[in-house]
Amino acid sequence: MARPSLLQRLAERHAQRARGDLLRRLRTVTQAEAARIVLDGRELINFASNDYLGLAGHPALADALAGAALRWGVGATAAHGLGGHRAPHAALEAELAEWTQRPRALLFSSGWMANLGVLATLLEAGDACVQDKLNHACLLDGATLAGATLRRYPHRDVAAAARQLALDPDAGALLATDGVFSMDGTVAPLRELADACTAAGATLMVDDAHGIGVLGHEGAGSVREAGLGVDGVPVYMATLGKALGTLGAFVAGSEALVDGLRQFARTHVFTTALPPALAEAARAALRIARFEAWRRDKLAVLVRHFRRGAVARGIALADSRTPIQPVVVGASARAVAVAAALEAAGFHVPAVRPPTVPEGAARLRITLTALHGEAEVEALLDALARALGQSPDATDPRPVDLAREPRRPPRAGAVRVRRRPS
Ligand SMILES: Cc1ncc(COP(=O)(O)O)c(C=O)c1O
Repeated sequence: MARPSLLQRLAERHAQRARGDLLRRLRTVTQAEAARIVLDGRELINFASNDYLGLAGHPALADALAGAALRWGVGATAAHGLGGHRAPHAALEAELAEWTQRPRALLFSSGWMANLGVLATLLEAGDACVQDKLNHACLLDGATLAGATLRRYPHRDVAAAARQLALDPDAGALLATDGVFSMDGTVAPLRELADACTAAGATLMVDDAHGIGVLGHEGAGSVREAGLGVDGVPVYMATLGKALGTLGAFVAGSEALVDGLRQFARTHVFTTALPPALAEAARAALRIARFEAWRRDKLAVLVRHFRRGAVARGIALADSRTPIQPVVVGASARAVAVAAALEAAGFHVPAVRPPTVPEGAARLRITLTALHGEAEVEALLDALARALGQSPDATDPRPVDLAREPRRPPRAGAVRVRRRPS
């Protein structure tokens, strides 16, 4: 039997993806300032960024980065355990632990590496890893890497999660969930999941990549918002590359958790530490995220504004109270067409298609940030209503959930932005 050509096999997968309208297209942003980016020479209002608090371009972060680079150099030069662990890393870990009210925190170079490291360290072959179906890819991959039995429950279905935990009563068990789901903006039922884990003797892990900085007292995340501590959620992971505007991630929990990860998490041990200057930038971000509450307040206003405006225009919404406000359109081709129409109108909102989201649930993933203005949100809604109206064949069949909407009636009419991007 002839050995298959790996590159040919890859090319065939690529061609298949192209046939399904599912190719990811790489585009280069040539300028970025606040909520505006330049793509292919055109300025667009960016509704695709995870920089929820508007910190990535904040001068305090740039100053901290530049100052620390002059003092510490650019690279950490080694792994944490081999001389790469510098004073800024130590200070950042202490401040992250204090912010999230956990005894200790441990830095990783990215969220992906943090999740792989945690899951491959805690789980062994034969253990059960129970996960929400809509969890981020790196949580799923972590369970597979660990050789655990991966069981996935329907989105936010606590009863199903509890049933899955009960299937392997004698195995080690970890339930892992996103705190805020990256493509849906929904928030996990953390208190109920914590109760289910306690009842089953399982450990709960929360990936709060999209909750940190946005939810909870002083932006300390979804777990703080749910009033849960280290007992309820022993493993808390969050990233620094979204609301904190930098790069990297951390895991926070007990002394035993962090000591163990420091020894055994291969994605922490066998990799170069983050640049110390980046740790200094993250410390500056943490202070702003924590104490400039107006950024979260503004986000909340924009989220309400977006949802009211969408309802007024008959645009179906997902059940999200977070800055991630997807508009599910169904077919991939339709999502691409709506995204193109939005771009023509001056807005960057990428189409997210399978396999990133389930089959038949392609969407526009709209994200709001503290840098947007209400007029920009209004203009986006107008353009969205027009774009959806132009290809009305596949509207989202799910009902609009207004359970969390304020009682005030929607504003009549749309406010036009004076300055349209060229
Ligand atoms: C829920 C979630 N977890 C983890 C990650 C990975 O984090 P990072 O980009 O730092 O690798 C992401 C996104 O990138 C995410 O959305």
